This record gives sequence, structure tokens and C-alpha cells, in this order.
Amino acid sequence: MKISASILSADLLNLERDIKEAVEGGIDLIHLDVMDGHFVPNLTFGIPLGQRLKDKIPIPIESHLMISNPDRYIDEYTSFSKYVTIHWESPVQVTRVIQKIKEKGVSAGIAINPGTEVYSIEDVLDRVDYVLVMTVEPGFSGQKMIKESLGKIDLLRGIREKNGFNFEIGVDGGINRENIKEVVSHGPDIIVSASAIFNGKIKENINFLRNAMSVSVNGPGNS
Ligand code: DX5
Ligand code: ZN
Repeated sequence: MKISASILSADLLNLERDIKEAVEGGIDLIHLDVMDGHFVPNLTFGIPLGQRLKDKIPIPIESHLMISNPDRYIDEYTSFSKYVTIHWESPVQVTRVIQKIKEKGVSAGIAINPGTEVYSIEDVLDRVDYVLVMTVEPGFSGQKMIKESLGKIDLLRGIREKNGFNFEIGVDGGINRENIKEVVSHGPDIIVSASAIFNGKIKENINFLRNAMSVSVNGPGNS
């Protein structure tokens, strides 16, 4: 199980310091939350930061595009990302954009909001590399998890197994020390977190999450 650190909760004036600490702490991916103030009510960072991160940081980037027109920027985001994830709810031809991402040799992800059911994306599950289950409404870090969405991870695992698909399943939003074991018990492949990693002592936070993850997966004492 991988840990993906969303830098949305990092100290932006000390971004390099915070990311280095997270990398040393053992994160597997950097999660770049790209927001346009239109698809979601918040505005964050984008292409220049992603390019700079790729130059400086030795671990892969997953770009989570919460923007209305992801189709316009596929060349740019695929140039520095290992995964590019677009939203099912964005007003684009999702299958075409997924195809474009894959043609660049980058893993294509589809994210679904808490209000979107798994059956909505059934037709694209044969061609995506990654499904990101949102457990908060996209837009901000530090929100309370909408636990009803966790069941989608089980559903997706079932569909994957039944059909021999091989997409990874990520979960994003509201993960914290209290609910990490419950989240892990649903069996996602990638855990995304901003505040539970960057608020407070970063390495200690990552250790806590990692320990909780191994205990949940293997049972106490079996790791
Ligand atoms: C929400 C973002 C999340 C967010 C997670 O729109 O997609 O990645 O940064 O933040 P936490 O882990 O604090 O809920
Ligand atoms: Zn995200």
C-alpha cells in the first residue's frame, strides 16, 4: 500500500523543507492538487510547480486535476507526472482525455466525487490505470471524511477481480489517525493525505500512518 502526500497542507513558504522531510519519512508519491477556482471553489497550483518538483524531488508525482478543462493541459501535466487523474464530473469527453493521457505513456486516473456512484464509471474501468475515490467534496484539505464513500473501494475491488482489470484504487480526503485503520480495512492501494501528514511533525505522522496500515493489513503481531 502506497502513501501519497498531498502538499496542499504543506507550509508553502517552506515547501522544499516539508517535502524533503516527507520523502525521508518514506512517502511513495507526491499528490499535486490542482484547482482552478471554477470546477472547485478553491485555486491552488499547477504546471510551473509540477515541473519544478519533477526537477528537484526524487519520487513520482500524481496530478489530481480538479479543473473544468483538463483536456487543454494534458501535454503539460503528463510531462512531469506518473499519474494524471481527471474527474468524472468534469465537463469533458472523459474517454478521450484518458486516451490522450495513456498515449503519453502516463497512468490515467479517474476520480469520483462522494455523490458519484461506481456504476457511473463502469464503462471506463477497462481502460483506466487508477481510480481515485474521493471521501470529501473536492476543494479543500482538512475536511471531515464522508465515510459512506469507503464502500466504493470494496465495490471497485470486486469489479477489478471479476473482470481481470488492473487499475489501482486510491482514497483521498479526511484520512486521519482515528480512521486510518478503517480506511485500510477496505483494501485501497494508495492512501492520499494532506493534513494528517503535513500538520505537525511530518516524519512522526508518516510513521503513525505506516504502522496503522501494517497492523490493519496483517493483524497485530503478524507484520
Ligand atoms: C481535496 C484534495 C485532497 C486533500 C486532502 O480536494 O483532493 O487531496 O488535499 O486533504 P486532507 O487529507 O487534509 O483531507
Ligand atoms: Zn487530491
